[in-house]
Order: sequence, then C-alpha cells, then structure tokens
Amino acid sequence: MAAQSGGLVSRRAGALSGVAEAPGDKSISHRALIFGALARGRSRITGLLEGDDVLRTAAAMRALGAEVERSGGVWSVDGKPWRASGQALYFGNSGTGARLVMGAVAGAGVAATFDGDASLRARPMGRVLEPLRMMGVNAESNDGRLPVRIAAGGTLAAVKCVLAKPSAQVKSAILLAALGADGDTRIHEPVLCRDHTERMLAAFGADMIIEEDGEGGRFMSIAGGQKLTPSDIDVPGDPSSAAFLTAAAVITPGSDVIVKNVLVNPLRSGFYETLREMGGDIAFENRREENGEPVADIRARHSILHGVETPAARAPSMIDEYPILSVVASFANGETMMRGLEELRVKESDRIESVEAGLAACGVDVASGEDWLRVRGQGKPPEGGARVKTNHDHRIAMSFLTMGCASNEPVEIDDASMIATSFPDFFQIMTMLGGEIIARQ
Ligand code: S3P
Repeated sequence: MAAQSGGLVSRRAGALSGVAEAPGDKSISHRALIFGALARGRSRITGLLEGDDVLRTAAAMRALGAEVERSGGVWSVDGKPWRASGQALYFGNSGTGARLVMGAVAGAGVAATFDGDASLRARPMGRVLEPLRMMGVNAESNDGRLPVRIAAGGTLAAVKCVLAKPSAQVKSAILLAALGADGDTRIHEPVLCRDHTERMLAAFGADMIIEEDGEGGRFMSIAGGQKLTPSDIDVPGDPSSAAFLTAAAVITPGSDVIVKNVLVNPLRSGFYETLREMGGDIAFENRREENGEPVADIRARHSILHGVETPAARAPSMIDEYPILSVVASFANGETMMRGLEELRVKESDRIESVEAGLAACGVDVASGEDWLRVRGQGKPPEGGARVKTNHDHRIAMSFLTMGCASNEPVEIDDASMIATSFPDFFQIMTMLGGEIIARQ
C-alpha cells in the first residue's frame, strides 16, 4: 500500500528498531536542480528527493530549457540558456520551488507564469516579489499571491536589502536574481536561516563574500553576471523527514533506531538540539562532511522526556519541525513552550491551528497565541483516539501518524496524499521499523 492512499490510522505496535535512510533533503534537492539548470554543462545529482514538490521543480527546469533526465537513480541536468515557458509553471504544493524559481527566472531575464494548488495559492508571494521589484523586475500577482507573472526584462539593478523575515526562500530568491543583476547585491541577514543556497553557489563556482555582522547575523555580497560551472551533488538525507523517525523512536518504549546519512547543518538541527534538552537520547554518529554539508547517522532511543522552553531565536533552525516537536512534547512531563512561531501561520497550512486542533482532539492540554504554542504533557502517552484534519499538510499528516505509534488509542488522519510531497516512502519505512499504519476501514 502506498502512503498516498486516502486516510490512514496508526496504532501502538511495540518498540521500533532498525536502520533506515531518510529521503533526500528537500531544500538541497530543489536547489541542485535549479543550479544545474543555471550552469552551462552537465551536473549529476544522486540522492535527489523524488517527491512531488521536487519533481515539479524538475518539470519547471525542463520547461525553462534545461535537459533533465533520470537514469538508474542518477539525475543529470544539462543547463542551457533559459527560455520563456509557454505554459504556466505549476508548483503544486511547493513554496520552495515557486519562490526560488521566481528569483532564478528574474535573474535569467525570461518571462514565466507561476501557479500552484489551493494551499500554495493561499500563501504569500509578496515577500519575494517586493525585493525582486526593487531590482527592477516587472511582476504581477493576484494581490500578492499566485498566479504570479514575471515579464522578460532588461538587466536588473543590484540592491542593498535587509531580510525582514528569517526566510531562506526569500534570501535564495534574491541571491538567484542577483546573478543576473548589474553590480554587487548586498543582503543583510540579521537572523540566520538555512544556508544551502550560499553553499551551493560556492559549489557551482560563484564568488560571494560573507561576513559576520557582529550580532549573530551576516552580510553577504554577490556580484552579478557570474556564470555557474556544473557540479555533481550527492544530496544528504533530510533532517526534517528524519525527525518523524527519530521522534517515533524517542516516544515509543524500547525503541532504538538509526537514520543514516542525515544532513546535520547547524541551521537545520534545532529539533535535535531541543530533543536533547528534553532528555532525548539522540546521538550524531559517524559525523562527516559531504559536498560542503555536515552529515551524520542519527541514533534515537526511547527516552524519558521533560518539557522545555524553545527560544524564538531557534525557530529558523527547526521551522518545519514544530508539528512533530509538539507531538513529542505531548509525551513529555510538564510544559513545553514554543515561541517565535509566526511563520507557522503561512506554511502548507496554518500549522499553529492544525497542531492545536489535532492535539486537542487527541486529549492533549494545548494552547496557542499568534506566535506561540504551549503543550502540557503528563509524562505518559496521551490518549489519541481521534481523527485528525491534516489541512493538506504533509507534516501534519506524518506528525499525527507518528503520535499514533505510542498513544493509548490509535490516531487517524483524514488524508495521507500530501505525504508524497516530501517523504514518499514514509509508510514503508515506518512499517519496516515496526510501526503499524493501516488504511482506514
Ligand atoms: C525552505 C525554507 C523554509 C522552510 C521550507 C524550505 C527552503 O521556508 O519552511 O520548508 O528550502 O529554503 P521559509 O524560507 O519561508 O522560512
């Protein structure tokens, strides 16, 4: 049975154990395709996440002129001069694909229309369009949302800007557009967020100056007109996907799970840091560097957990992990207070609302405000026994299926189809580790 089918139920089946591979990192996979398409010549990508979101980006790269092929698990991308796409580029559920390609299209100076599913159409695009317009891009939108139309333009102006929100998508869109600008674009990033674009720019031969701002942030400066050289990328496992497997181990008595080959970039590791603070038995083993990114095997064992306070400053390094962290917190003893969550309101669903409703339905003491979420656990498994609304959000779906592995009663989700956007083998891997997830009767 594929994870894509209708609703699913997970229920307690005993300890989880074994060695698993997480799917390729979603952020790096999108970027590898986009960078490959911008470079002149052939880049090869192994370990690419073959989830719906990334496959949409692959299709967009083809539509914009690149030759993108898969053979025996290796993807090859032959970058060609970009051309206008006759049809709208459709990004499905993927904010990362849509926003990064907007920047790349602007930098390449070609015209394109961007669209997506109902969830993506509801998400803000103004945060990317505003800096692009400052650079001289002519863009129209549906009141700051999709569909967006970018017109073919002349040379873009280099700009100086401050990232108002700690968003790697916005930062990346500006950096990609800056490749086509006249002069040096300078970005101030007061709060650091994932830096895969910067690392990949270096891997594809672009020069960039990065300096500390002395207050925890960075200045970066990139010259326009640089040509990218092809590069081979081996995509490490996604820490945001591995989070479900490690969380399942931590909350399920007797469990001992290893997830191999996971990206442990510090700007993505806030969830693991928090688990450790909660008393979680989490070890990064066999640490190494691959393609300029830190990688490790993550070992997670069942643990006695206590509540913690997560500071707002940590939010960018675990922004996608709050749903699963909230589930873990519901097993811990005491209160977990998560602050600085305003960006969760504009993810694939309003994640504060989705998490709060799901946990409350499962009998958990939970409360929220505009930018915070508080979960009170009792140091024992929560009740469960509810049907949770996923609101077309893959991370809500996987979080509550994980909960059902160890809650008193099974947990059902209304729709598992979105899991395929980021973790197509979630069902198979959880089952292999000993979880019991079945189709709704
Ligand atoms: C991503 C950045 C984050 C994250 C998303 C992937 C990226 O979004 O939530 O899943 O690959 O750059 P924001 O940049 O909007 O915070």
